[in-house]
Amino acid sequence: MTANELRTMYVNFFKERGHKEIASASLLPENDPTVLFTTAGMHPLAPYLLGEKHPSGKRLTDVQKCVRTEDIDEVGDDTHCTFFEMLGNWSLGDYFKQESISMSFDFLTNYLHIPLERLAVTVFEGDELVPADVEAEEIWKSFGLKSDQIFRYGRDNNWWGPAGQTGPCGPDTEIFYDMDKPKCGPNCGPSCKCGKYVEIWNNVFMQFNKEADGTFTELKQRNVDTGMGLERVLTIFNGKTNVYDTELFIPIMQTLEEILEKEGKSIPDRDKRIICEHTRAITFILGDPMKISPSNTEQGYILRRLIRRIIRLFKKADISANYLCELSEVIIEQYRLVYPELGENREFILEQLQKEYNLFSKTLDEGLKKANRYLDSIEQGGILSGELAFKLYDTFGFPIEFTSELASERGYQVDMDGFRKKFEEHQNKSRQGAAGKFAGGLADNNEQTARLHTATHLLNGALRKVLGDEVFQRGSNITSERLRFDFSFGRKVTKEELGKVESIVNEAIRKKIDVILEEMTPEKAYEEGAIGVFSGKYGEIVKVYTIPGYSKEICGGPHAKNTGELVSFKIKKEEASSAGVRRIKAVINEN
Ligand code: ALA
Repeated sequence: MTANELRTMYVNFFKERGHKEIASASLLPENDPTVLFTTAGMHPLAPYLLGEKHPSGKRLTDVQKCVRTEDIDEVGDDTHCTFFEMLGNWSLGDYFKQESISMSFDFLTNYLHIPLERLAVTVFEGDELVPADVEAEEIWKSFGLKSDQIFRYGRDNNWWGPAGQTGPCGPDTEIFYDMDKPKCGPNCGPSCKCGKYVEIWNNVFMQFNKEADGTFTELKQRNVDTGMGLERVLTIFNGKTNVYDTELFIPIMQTLEEILEKEGKSIPDRDKRIICEHTRAITFILGDPMKISPSNTEQGYILRRLIRRIIRLFKKADISANYLCELSEVIIEQYRLVYPELGENREFILEQLQKEYNLFSKTLDEGLKKANRYLDSIEQGGILSGELAFKLYDTFGFPIEFTSELASERGYQVDMDGFRKKFEEHQNKSRQGAAGKFAGGLADNNEQTARLHTATHLLNGALRKVLGDEVFQRGSNITSERLRFDFSFGRKVTKEELGKVESIVNEAIRKKIDVILEEMTPEKAYEEGAIGVFSGKYGEIVKVYTIPGYSKEICGGPHAKNTGELVSFKIKKEEASSAGVRRIKAVINEN
């Protein structure tokens, strides 16, 4: 089975069961203050899981591109990837456990033809908040799973979400494929890492919202959120043992082998896997319509870290030429039909890779020499100080994880706390730091954030009026205190222009205009002059929010009902975000 056959088979299976297909969202989450990347199919759907009406109905399915940086150290093993595709289906207050598990079982056994005895599942064992999921367990038994195929685990294993600190979550039932290896010990089960059990699908029964104060409240509706790993299922279905032996990685692996042969060099298999896996991830991150570039903060930092890791692995093998672009082109070619953004942004991807290579290779050799000298001066097994690690970061552009990897290869550790301290001392406090912010939470879905969201639309509209149509949204991030809006624009916005923008937004607020919500096809929305990301999925229905005279955008919401609710609007800051992208921070309701 090819990857595309699997994508189609999955989506059609759920379409035949009343689900509407929706498009894969950007890898960069919108309106989410703390999570760097889209980590699961549910992430872009958070407002709907919290009760907002979805224009496509209560049953949805899609293939979502995801990036999970917490798995970065695992990359190189058989199954973990930083970038992956998640096949998903959702019930928004519609079906629940019985139907969800029944559909999963049907798909696994009758479509993927997985023998019953090769399945293992886990269910929530219960705690003071939520009872044991006996219901899920009974459903699995009714399909013929034996007791030794069903495992009960606690919150660590059988509770999913929220994606960050707050948001929808609940107990789950995870489905594993038994690789038919012997058990590694008497307690061997799906939670152990020996490789006997590979997780392929997760069905989350979302009934709770985790609030900012850490408490759980019942959601208005009971949802199902599922996610299946495309790479893993493809591996298993085709009788392979690891994702690199699937069609997704074979072409890039072959190109890498050719490069190594040409260079007359060899590198360890694990490094080859890391190079190919990271190349795919950086190609997708750079190819995203949000067009982020390598930098020292947030997503740009992760991107930089992945790129520099590849460059170093080549360097380790004594290869200095830049092969990033050649490898990335293999990924672009392979995925461009399914993800047209890769083809559309080809030039941007390659240009950024070349630029980052040039930037880093200048200091790499010198930095490596320095790093090795530092390590030589420490007793074997000792600790590299935070100060020296910071120097490598600051002077030679070594991401801290990279220094830590270098050190551990030679049997040393790095004083990470010391590094962070130094880092914070040197960093402008208002900028989000590279070393700290890798986790976070979904935005509070309250009235204040809805109003800030409306203010964001007004701001976007006003910027386009004052600065012209070259302004496009590049990112939006809302906390309950402020909005932050990134947009394409080639120079600093003058004080005078900012003043004009501010007064247009305040004028709209003063006029107390009703915010109009309509549902229509994306084509119709564009005809009517709406802006926003157009996914191009046929038959899709999108929500369009209009503030007559000021803004018309395709957007999931939620929004204020009337612009008067915003009271006032003030821009606090305008600065560069990355090349060609400006950033505005603003607040509302300040007198
Ligand atoms: N959101 C669930 C997961 O990522 C399905 O496992």
